[in-house]
Amino acid sequence: MTDEKRTEGKRKECVPRHVAIIMDGNGRWAKKRGLPRLKGHEQGSESVRAVLRACRKTGVKYLTLYAFSVENWIRPKAEIRGLMSLLIRFLRSEEHELHDNKVRLRLIGRIDDLPKEVQKEAFRVMKATEHYESGQLILALSYGGRTEIADAVRKIARGVKTMEIDPEKVDEKTIGQYLYAPDVPDPDLLIRTSGEMRVSNFLLWQISYSEFYFTNVLWPDFREKQFMEALEEYSRRHRRFGDVE
Ligand code: IPE
Ligand code: IPE
Ligand code: MG
Repeated sequence: MTDEKRTEGKRKECVPRHVAIIMDGNGRWAKKRGLPRLKGHEQGSESVRAVLRACRKTGVKYLTLYAFSVENWIRPKAEIRGLMSLLIRFLRSEEHELHDNKVRLRLIGRIDDLPKEVQKEAFRVMKATEHYESGQLILALSYGGRTEIADAVRKIARGVKTMEIDPEKVDEKTIGQYLYAPDVPDPDLLIRTSGEMRVSNFLLWQISYSEFYFTNVLWPDFREKQFMEALEEYSRRHRRFGDVE
């Protein structure tokens, strides 16, 4: 291998293939300005657009966004309604961007729990973009990491019952195959905004070897510059995966 090729290989590794983001701090952003929480969510959807563009620019192939957790259903009804209509608006306005850039939309989570209108819009855009291969935008909606694992275990148990799965052969790979998006590689980088240092039930299985990046910036203020800073930091990390050096 030539030195040039080796450097090129290293440069490529510096860019994460999959970035997952816990988009947090919309409510605090709004509160600081004396605005209703929904205004924070609205500004937050602008950050989604900015980060999606930044992924294209930098070559990040998979972007998974934690948009609504299974726990978030306990929020006030009006906030949930606001978030759901924002989601519909986002899907409608962003669809052409996805087409223009050949980005596939996918969902992970308990999709059946979402309002029918959200499901309808999401399935429409997913279907229309399912053949694209330039990148993937994965929205985690009504998502819980433990729920995802429990759902996988239930499916495996059914397979054992019908004798399609040999219980002795159930291993990590089997579990991975029954997750919501089995073909998506694990996130290389997990970002959480707003200063909270927790994973809040996000991608519990998939983040076993992800690099974590926490920032105090609130999600509505997290734009291209902040995303680039996170990628910079990632490029300086040394991933060992249990090995030496
Ligand atoms: C993240 O912002 C968006 C969702 C969880 C839907 P928050 O709404 O959690 O904002 P904070 O944490 O209250 O500031
Ligand atoms: C995590 O944010 C969920 C999403 C970003 C969708 P939360 O604001 O719900 O998390 P906690 O409650 O502070 O852990
Ligand atoms: Mg929050």
